[in-house]
Amino acid sequence: MKTLTVDLGNRSYPIHIGQHLLTQVALLQPHIVSKQVLIVSNDTVAPLYLDTLLSTLSAYDCYTVVLKDGEQYKSLDTLNEIFDAALNNKLNRQLTMIALGGGVIGDMAGFAASCYQRGVNFIQIPTTLLAQVDSSVGGKTAVNHPLGKNMIGAFYQPRCVLADISTLDTLPARELSAGLAEVIKYGVIRDVAFFEWLEQNMDALLARNSEVLGYAIERSCRNKAEIVEQDEHERGMRALLNLGHTFGHAIETACGYGVWLHGEAVAAGMSMAAELSYRLGWLPANDMQRIIGLIARAKLPVKPPATMSAAQFMDLMAVDKKVEDGKVRFVLLKALGDAVTTADFDAAIFEQFLNESCGA
Ligand code: NAD
Ligand code: GLY
Repeated sequence: MKTLTVDLGNRSYPIHIGQHLLTQVALLQPHIVSKQVLIVSNDTVAPLYLDTLLSTLSAYDCYTVVLKDGEQYKSLDTLNEIFDAALNNKLNRQLTMIALGGGVIGDMAGFAASCYQRGVNFIQIPTTLLAQVDSSVGGKTAVNHPLGKNMIGAFYQPRCVLADISTLDTLPARELSAGLAEVIKYGVIRDVAFFEWLEQNMDALLARNSEVLGYAIERSCRNKAEIVEQDEHERGMRALLNLGHTFGHAIETACGYGVWLHGEAVAAGMSMAAELSYRLGWLPANDMQRIIGLIARAKLPVKPPATMSAAQFMDLMAVDKKVEDGKVRFVLLKALGDAVTTADFDAAIFEQFLNESCGA
């Protein structure tokens, strides 16, 4: 097992990464503040892993709430089911809420923990690659609104992240690829050596070689922790983690939540950001080709959905969280490993790029 630390002063927390961690109560126990535990999961993950976690936590009074699976249920309505379960069971402020699932469950349980009785203790047990490398670390929590992805939420750090790599054995291949989008992102925005390693190890990752997966998770979490430690509330450099997300969130909202997976939309968005950066004359052609090539090798889309128009992109991107003074800001690339957040680019080139990308 490897343990990293997200260093946030007295709110610092460990990320444990390894095989079969779900059975190790000693990793969770220091972060549980009373007997009361509420485990939040969904109807896909609960049948696979809830019993194991319940037996690990048999010394505690565990309550469970099992939500419907899907990005389309990442909503305020579903959030209420968590509050209903907590209140029906008279759970108090000493409660520890545990997210057992992918990024949807982690984001919702984290948001619920941030609001229930104005904030209760929270632990992340991510069970998708995407959640193990990105969403469980850093304290972003949210639900979607019909008009925009992750528009209602809070920054709320967990007390501990337990990334049990063995849970990835049951993950569908499409979801594994979706997680690889966020892994590739770290290489593209700040870690060229990792990008090169990914080029060499993509086949082993897709084949779920556990050693290779473990290294990718550790390196991704290390990158994420370094960024979060410097800019927890996204006043500056944390925005670089949104490479591809401005296009990607528009894709997810336009297609209907859950139709394109988050990682797929981010993959197409990263490819778009790379091509736009190239067309602006910022990114060398070879870097663009390597980025798009690696994304394609991870079995991810590199183009937006054929159904989306440029006008639809513009309309949906206008509610992006990076909009400032009415201007949409994008994460763009000056080179492989060198990303910037900016609204300062040639609007005519951007317009032509978007029209041609959408075929309209
Ligand atoms: P997800 O939570 O929907 O999980 C993907 C699918 O895999 C679901 O059907 C889930 O039930 C299933 N699943 C989960 N673990 C499994 C396992 N071990 N075996 C079999 N099936 C399993 O999607 P995701 O890709 O994990 O997360 C995407 C969400 O994360 C999006 O809502 C996105 O906005 C959010 N996100 C948040 C952050 C953040 O910083 N908070 C970062 C990136 C993404
Ligand atoms: N996934 C983007 C962030 O955590 O900032």
